[in-house]
Amino acid sequence: MPRLPDSALRDALIERMRFYRDLGLTDFYRRAVPVIEPGAEAELAPALAPVLAGEVESHDPQTAGAPSEGGLFAEELAIPARRSSPAPPAALPILTFEERAAALKSILDDIGDCTRCALHKGRNKIVFADGSPMARLMFVGEGPGADEDAQGLPFVGRAGQLLNNMIAAMGLKREEVYIANVVKCRPPGNRTPEPAEANTCSPFLFRQIDVVRPEVIVALGATAATYLLGQRQPLAALRGRVHSFRGSKLIVTYHPAFLLRDPRQKKEAWADLQIAMRELGLKAPARA
Ligand code: URA
Repeated sequence: MPRLPDSALRDALIERMRFYRDLGLTDFYRRAVPVIEPGAEAELAPALAPVLAGEVESHDPQTAGAPSEGGLFAEELAIPARRSSPAPPAALPILTFEERAAALKSILDDIGDCTRCALHKGRNKIVFADGSPMARLMFVGEGPGADEDAQGLPFVGRAGQLLNNMIAAMGLKREEVYIANVVKCRPPGNRTPEPAEANTCSPFLFRQIDVVRPEVIVALGATAATYLLGQRQPLAALRGRVHSFRGSKLIVTYHPAFLLRDPRQKKEAWADLQIAMRELGLKAPARA
């Protein structure tokens, strides 16, 4: 059989990936993982059976660089390896403060002096989390920056100052909420975490969520939203509604670093936080 030129092969491959994507298969990292909405299985073409069974190898995507937040398509971001994380155990017991603290400590111990992905090469400190194990509200960011890497705490730089203000505007103290990131080591130059990095690290975040079991999670920015929800959607399509994630309600808003670059969007972010407050039964404190 005559061999097709490389460009034709490439075009055919791109075409095929688009076809899978149109069917809702969004993972082309490592292996094709089924990404099907509940109840949609029956509509999928039988030809996709080997793909869904994980029998077809797929290809590493070329991911784009740093995200711009507004109108961003998650396609431009690191692509998650799965559409949604495994569900938490069905009936998790309500844990006491001591039990949660111990469970979080054991996650930290499991992380250890982590070398599971390349991010360890440039890190000073692992940034595990900050805040209360009993928190009703959890914020999830993308990954540590320079200040966080130096101090070993999330959101302590300029974006952290703004996050503190956002928390205060909700009538809460930083110590009352729980703050963590998709990746626990600083990506070089504060770039977006690569899929392999985020997928290696995010299981630890999911375990933290299962221990804290916050009523509401606020995903700060497209990377957090993408890796928590596993949805390749523009941030605008994910904002303004209540999602559900591992038993918690999840609300998507802009990353504070983006709000520092474009303060006009703060109003929009406040509208998102008000959704979180409504879900938590909180009222904004009266302004002095
Ligand atoms: N940006 C993040 O996403 N997380 C941090 O901890 C700091 C800045």
